[in-house]
Amino acid sequence: MRDVCPHNRPINRAPTLKLQYLTMRAVNFCAHPKMTDKYAVIGNPINHSKSPLIHKMFAGQTGQDISYEAILAPLDGFAATIERLRNEGYKGCNVTVPFKFEAFQLATQLTPHALVAQAVNTLKFDGDTILGDNTDGTGLARDIQFHLRITLNNKRVLLIGAGGAANGVSLPLMHAGAKLTIVNRNVDKAQVLAIRTSNKAQELATSQTSVQTQISGCGYDELFGKQFDVVINATSAGLTDSELPLPATLFASGALAYDMMYGRVTPFMKFAREHGAAVVSDGLGMLVEQAAESFFIWRGVRPETAPVIEALRKFQ
Ligand code: ATR
Repeated sequence: MRDVCPHNRPINRAPTLKLQYLTMRAVNFCAHPKMTDKYAVIGNPINHSKSPLIHKMFAGQTGQDISYEAILAPLDGFAATIERLRNEGYKGCNVTVPFKFEAFQLATQLTPHALVAQAVNTLKFDGDTILGDNTDGTGLARDIQFHLRITLNNKRVLLIGAGGAANGVSLPLMHAGAKLTIVNRNVDKAQVLAIRTSNKAQELATSQTSVQTQISGCGYDELFGKQFDVVINATSAGLTDSELPLPATLFASGALAYDMMYGRVTPFMKFAREHGAAVVSDGLGMLVEQAAESFFIWRGVRPETAPVIEALRKFQ
């Protein structure tokens, strides 16, 4: 007959006093004190990352016993860094620029959001399995719907850009019911993203509830004469303070203009304020919400995001 110790290692049942003593020792040896679970964010550069601060606030708030650090990986050393973390018993990590595609390739299991994005920002280590997810889009949709209190269902949503940032959010926007138009300088990229998102949404709709499948890709010249309820800037134009070639009549009455960048007013946000957007937001709420989604994937606990967003706004 066999007993099982708390860590699932089998030990022999002890019939004599001496063996009972030995068994107690075995149990004590087995019942080592609970270890703090380790997590990290990996990128290059990484100094700027707010993720350690956010996750420490989440952990404090929910009482989860975790550590979370920022790790700089060499540009040619992402896979080796992941290997080291797994060997050292880390439970998962966030992945940021420029490693999101490598993380996508490294994962052994991918969620639909990661498959459409072709990029992974959250890895969960579980034995031999490396689960890869992309929580950016869920974070964006939650920020818009819960913090800004603007519903996406059946809204005309314009997603500007078709690079990594846009790829990460298209499917969750569709799942929220958005009628999605993707616009990009390179029109092919917009159309490819629209088709990939539509295919995945339809594939998932067969096994889940029905999903909005109104989505198209276009160039900027096709925006003239059209209006949108929600306009999301997912381009990197703000990094160089470049203006986007948007028509002045783009914003419908009551429209939201959302820039996925945070920390400053971009030319897109300025344009939106000057051309009738009712609400203009940066991407700080999305940053916190995508982190909360990662935290939930790892810990099964959903932290309160509003106080964390508020605290970060004060630090800005
Ligand atoms: P990210 O991962 O930040 O999305 P990326 O994959 O390099 O970065 O994509 C950048 C996006 O911003 C692209 O959609 C790019 O448009 P193109 O694909 O046509 O190049 C867009 N972008 C960057 N600068 C822009 C500008 N000045 N005007 C319009 N779009 C711009």
